[in-house]
Amino acid sequence: MSLSPDSSVGGAPALLSVRGVTKSFGDNEVLKSVDLDVSRGEVVAVIGASGSGKTTLLRCLNGLETPDAGVVSVGAVSVDFASAGQGRGGVKALERAKGSLRDQSAMVFQHYNLFPHRTVIENVIEGPVVVQGRSRDEARADALVLLDRVGLAEKADAYPHQLSGGQQQRVGIVRALALKPELLLFDEPTSALDPELVGDVLLLMRDLAAEGWTMVVVTHELQFAREVAAKVAFVDAGRVLEMGPPSQVLGAPREERTRQFVRRLTHPL
Ligand SMILES: Nc1ncnc2c1ncn2[C@@H]1O[C@H](COP(=O)(O)OP(=O)(O)O)[C@@H](O)[C@H]1O
Ligand SMILES: [Mg+2]
Repeated sequence: MSLSPDSSVGGAPALLSVRGVTKSFGDNEVLKSVDLDVSRGEVVAVIGASGSGKTTLLRCLNGLETPDAGVVSVGAVSVDFASAGQGRGGVKALERAKGSLRDQSAMVFQHYNLFPHRTVIENVIEGPVVVQGRSRDEARADALVLLDRVGLAEKADAYPHQLSGGQQQRVGIVRALALKPELLLFDEPTSALDPELVGDVLLLMRDLAAEGWTMVVVTHELQFAREVAAKVAFVDAGRVLEMGPPSQVLGAPREERTRQFVRRLTHPL
């Protein structure tokens, strides 16, 4: 295990670098040596069929899941999972390494994952206060600025169930932003929303991209991928089968599997 400075790939500073990440659940090999690079300020859309390993990949990037092998680097933190956790103090060292990885990023979940018995603002300040040790007053002030920005300042003291799905997901995004992470991870952030609520969330994500946030977005919204992402990665059976600019991966896929998937998403009937 190593904690080393920023890696760079081909001269461009890679904020996120994934090398040979492998993960099995029992004898189900879900990730098969995944490589992925994301430059600082870049948006990468990850597409692929249900069960192909997209969620597992995101979870490996931020220490919610432990890869069996491979290297994950985010900013100044780099963890080699082949060696992490071995030797003296192994399990503790591995947990510490995953913790430092987790501190680098924040995840936005498909089902928002807000605490149901806490108000909106309590949900937002939980991480900054409990995990990052920031003062409650400061965290509240920051949270209100962020909530105002997404038009939800007046909902600060409401409970999640009093909000629409679109509002809850905007709170989910605010909660991620409040951690001031290097990297934002989105796992199908609009998949659980009624169609008429999808637009506001995508608009907010588009603004974040324009502001320069580094984002990995698992999504089925091909229009968003086309317009916002610098690169699209097509995940198939635990591999990044194809990756490139949206015009190539979505417009002129090299792989038959990619072509089939894109066609099915574009023409569902
Ligand atoms: N905690 C887990 N335990 C066992 N199997 C899992 C677990 N998480 C995911 N899987 C399996 O890994 C595969 C990929 O799942 P997932 O990463 O959720 O795919 P996707 O997000 O692309 O739909 C599936 O076969 C799923 O059943
Ligand atoms: Mg998933």
